[in-house]
Amino acid sequence: MYKIGIIDTIDIKGIELLNKNKDFKYEIIEDLSKDNLLSKLPDFDGVTLRRGKLDEEILKNCKKLKVIARHGVGYDNVDTSFIKKNNITLLVTHNSTSTSPAEHAMFMIINILKGRSMFDTMVREGNFHKAIHLKIDDNFELFNKTVLIAGFGRIGKKLIKKCLGFDMKVIVYDPYVDEKVINSFGGKKINDFKKGLSETDILSLSVPLNKETKNFITLKEMSIMKKSSIIINISRGGIVNEEDLNLALNKKIISFAGLDVFEKEPPEMTNPLLNNNRVLLSPHAATFTRECLENMSMETVQNIIDFFEKKIESIKIVKL
Ligand SMILES: NC(=O)c1ccc[n+]([C@@H]2O[C@H](COP(=O)([O-])OP(=O)(O)OC[C@H]3O[C@@H](n4cnc5c(N)ncnc54)[C@H](O)[C@@H]3O)[C@@H](O)[C@H]2O)c1
Repeated sequence: MYKIGIIDTIDIKGIELLNKNKDFKYEIIEDLSKDNLLSKLPDFDGVTLRRGKLDEEILKNCKKLKVIARHGVGYDNVDTSFIKKNNITLLVTHNSTSTSPAEHAMFMIINILKGRSMFDTMVREGNFHKAIHLKIDDNFELFNKTVLIAGFGRIGKKLIKKCLGFDMKVIVYDPYVDEKVINSFGGKKINDFKKGLSETDILSLSVPLNKETKNFITLKEMSIMKKSSIIINISRGGIVNEEDLNLALNKKIISFAGLDVFEKEPPEMTNPLLNNNRVLLSPHAATFTRECLENMSMETVQNIIDFFEKKIESIKIVKL
């Protein structure tokens, strides 16, 4: 019998998989405080992890722990050097966590370029004819615009199809993906990121957060971009420098941004981006669709079961 800790609530469909399997018992851990994780986790053979941080101090007490199954694909909340040294396997939801984020990036792109809720508000407020007299400076067609997808993994590969469906030109920056692969999806690989930025109307980020990508986009990069360009970040906070972004928007260095993720989550109420009307915000909700949350929950739990039944697919295992 394996004992599994479900760290943070997940959709009931995943829990039902564990209920059906007699080889596993589980406990749901809703209190994500460090003290609670320190006291609870040593008991488990495996854990699923949504929110909550597994640092060295917590992990070194977990002598029985063999596997961490992330509810998601990012793993910047796990001390990867510790688990590598201690042979703890890290699994991700490879299959279920890219469709909704790619759609969310698209939602942000369309929402921004089509004036967000401006027209809806006019109709509701009885200003139906006001639109005719507006100077439309911020609304654009997606047709023929150049989108730069930085990070051509699961999300990037889903997003490109949507962009091409809108007749956009797609350039891709991902030093780790072969040009042939990018071409086969209808994109054009760029090696010169700066040159790519100068041609870009829409920059969409789908890279992991690591030492290389922290502050990937700062004022320096934004200054290369067109004044009318927009940045979409649905990957991780910290990839776009927030202070620089706020400055670039206020100084009209770029036009607009869409952020699903923040350097600190939730962001402080004093974060100036919260009062900047040139940003469209969402609360790390790119996966928040019914299908995605159900599928992620089931895949996370199935990954744990498959790991202990020794039939886990290698594509789910993070190579550290
Ligand atoms: N907002 C959300 O709810 C949400 C949901 C899913 C994923 N994410 C985040 O999005 C990230 C991407 O997800 P994914 O499933 O596409 O991951 P992935 O691992 O499939 O793809 C990431 C891609 O980024 C590339 N990359 C790495 N470093 C790079 C760099 N310096 N420059 C350019 N490309 C680089 C990799 O080669 C890879 O192809 C995840 O790491 C996660 O943090 C956020």
